[in-house]
Parts: sequence; structure tokens; C-alpha cells
Amino acid sequence: MKKMSSRMDRIIPSATMRMTQTAADLKARGIDVISFTAGEPDFPTPRYIIDAACSALRDGATRYTAISGTMELRRAVAAQSESVRRVPCQPEEVIICAGAKHVLYNLFMAILDEGDEVIVPLPAWVSYPDQVRLAGGVPVGIPTTEADGWLLSPEALEKAITPRTKALVLNSPCNPTGAVYDEDALRALVNLAVHRNLLVVSDEIYRDLLYDDVAFAPALTAVNADGRNRIFTVDGVSKSYAMTGWRIGWGIGDPDIIRGMTVMQGQTISCPTAVSQSAAREALSRDADFLPAWRSEYADRRDAMVRGLNAMAGVTCRCPRGAFYVFPDVTGLASRLGAGKTDEDVARWLLDEARVATVPGSAFGAPGYLRLSYAVAMSLVNDGISRMTAAISAL
Ligand SMILES: Cc1ncc(COP(=O)(O)O)c(C=O)c1O
Repeated sequence: MKKMSSRMDRIIPSATMRMTQTAADLKARGIDVISFTAGEPDFPTPRYIIDAACSALRDGATRYTAISGTMELRRAVAAQSESVRRVPCQPEEVIICAGAKHVLYNLFMAILDEGDEVIVPLPAWVSYPDQVRLAGGVPVGIPTTEADGWLLSPEALEKAITPRTKALVLNSPCNPTGAVYDEDALRALVNLAVHRNLLVVSDEIYRDLLYDDVAFAPALTAVNADGRNRIFTVDGVSKSYAMTGWRIGWGIGDPDIIRGMTVMQGQTISCPTAVSQSAAREALSRDADFLPAWRSEYADRRDAMVRGLNAMAGVTCRCPRGAFYVFPDVTGLASRLGAGKTDEDVARWLLDEARVATVPGSAFGAPGYLRLSYAVAMSLVNDGISRMTAAISAL
């Protein structure tokens, strides 16, 4: 009898988590590594949220809650969604899960049959294809290009739709490219998908992290009332409130889908953590007045990184408009390392020679690129760029 299930053959460890771990292991061995792999804000969770969580614990937030989350938090999420997306939202359309990643897991498990196709524009966050495969579905990657701003065109979407296509995943602002759809581009894409009866899974986890006065365009706002039950929004507190470790995310969509996901959740984790739900509830109860300062700090770091990368021989980097990643083209650097060298070789070389950890673009479906996170202090951005510059100059 095989020791492990064949399900395990369908998925691989998250490349970003693996690189983050490699950097952490080197640091633990006393090796001075600067890590640009982080997928989480380096700011602490705001104090008012922590204080509310401590009080909630003392007041008894120590037990199971309703499977789909407390009614207080679902109401708060519905109210926030109404103000962000300008579309009515009822608590019955909301499920709270253990992070946005868990929302996607519950969703794919609840909606996909064996062989159902899910279109994922590439490059994409590493977990979409694996989660689709885990649920028995088939991820269908459509490459996008840097020249097109890493945006999917309606023509490319149309070509990829087959009778088995069940859903389209969109992620704007995007991890790893930082690309952002504007309202018109999003409307064209989403309405085509809805017209073709697909479910649009819109991962909006980075919606607060936009720079240069770019406006956020939500998928739900892009359709008229009869298309709304074909939009499934994914959101949470992880990035906007620097609450990655609290593990709270939510899905907003058709109540039938929410009910299915609730059954999944009830048979797996029972409910999201009670105290984290109280903390998330408090987070949503006020204006996030710390965000402008965070955004301006992120934008400064982004600019420093983009400038530094563009000054390196064999590297070009466009200036992304959202999230906290840059996604430089390193094909020139790869060929300077030797014939046939790839982005993975570049990432390994940077770790060995510059002691800088990055994530190869091929992990996201875009060979030839690297992802660097600027969710790290400006001093580290500067040091990391200096180290890379020195290593490349010595080549
Ligand atoms: C695009 C995207 N979606 C979802 C998540 C997961 O968020 P959470 O920590 O809330 O599970 C991440 C985290 O890196 C992400 O980049």
C-alpha cells in the first residue's frame, strides 16, 4: 500500500514559503541574509486591535463560534463591502475563514468537480493552481506579458473558455506583478466571464495597497445586478491591517456557495478562531487611519527598489502600481551567469553571492523574472540593493 495519497502528487510546497524558510534557516545558522521573500506587511498590527483582542479574551472569546463566523463580524464585513464596492451586501453572503487562502480552499472544494477547469492568468500567486488541483479541478494558465502590463485581455480569455470552464480567478492588485486593472479593463473582462456563465473569483486582498493615486476597481462593481451572484470576492485583514498571523479572511458571494463552504468548514476547522474574529471585528470598526502612512512608506521603498534594480546590468524593472512586490526581468542577468541559466539560477546565485533571498518568477508561471517584496524596512531595501549591485558588478 502506498504510504501517501495520490492527492499529494498533485500539489507542491508553496515556493514563496519555501524560499522564506530557506532564508530563515540561513539566518538561524548565523548567516546574514536579507530576505525579500516576505508576503506579509512588516508593520505591527495596530495597537487598538491588539487591545480589543485582549479584552475579548477576558470577556470570554474562548469558545467555538458559529461555523461561518460570528454574526457581528459578518455584519461588519457586509457593511465594509457595501462602502468599498457600492453594492448591497447581506451577512448571508459572507463567510469568515482562517485567512484568505482558506477561503479559496473552501471555495474550490465546494464548487469544483473532477476535471472542471479554472482559468488563472499568469503570472499568478502560487496557491491558485495547487488549490484547484487539490479540489480535483484543472488549472488553465493563460500567460500575460509585461508589455501588456501583465493584464489579461478579453480576447485571450475568450480563447481559453471551454465547456468545462467553471471559474476565472482575478487578482488585482496582483501578487506577484503588482499589476492593477482599471475600471474599464475590469468591466470588459468580468462581463465577458459572467456572460459565459463563469464564476469570477476576485481576490481583492491587496485592495488597500495602491500607489500613485490609482483607484481600486472591485469586480462586484463591474457588473449589473443580475451578474452579481457570479462574482465571488475574496478579502481579509491580513494585508490591509497587518494581521497575517491572526488568520482571518472572508468570502462574499452567492448564499448557496456560502452554504456549501460552510458545510466544508464545519467538517474541517469547525469555525475560525474566536479571538481573531473579535480582533477583525474591531479592525473594521474604525477608519484605517494608519494606512496612508503605510502606503507612503511602501511607495518610497518600491521607488528605491525599482531605481536600484534598473541600475543593475541585465535587470529591468517596471514600476508596479499595487501590492508590495516588484517583478524585474532578469533574463539579461541569467545569460550573464551562463548559457541556459534561468531565473531559478539567478535566485540561487543572489542567495549565494549577495546573501539576498528572492523568489524565482517561474514559481508564479513567469520564467525569466524574480519577485522581490518591499514589505521590509527601507534600510534593508537599501542594503539588499547594494549587495546585489556589488555582486553583479563583480561578475
Ligand atoms: C494574492 C493572495 N491571496 C491570498 C493570500 C492569502 O492571504 P491570507 O494570509 O489571508 O490567507 C495571499 C498571501 O500572500 C496573496 O498574496
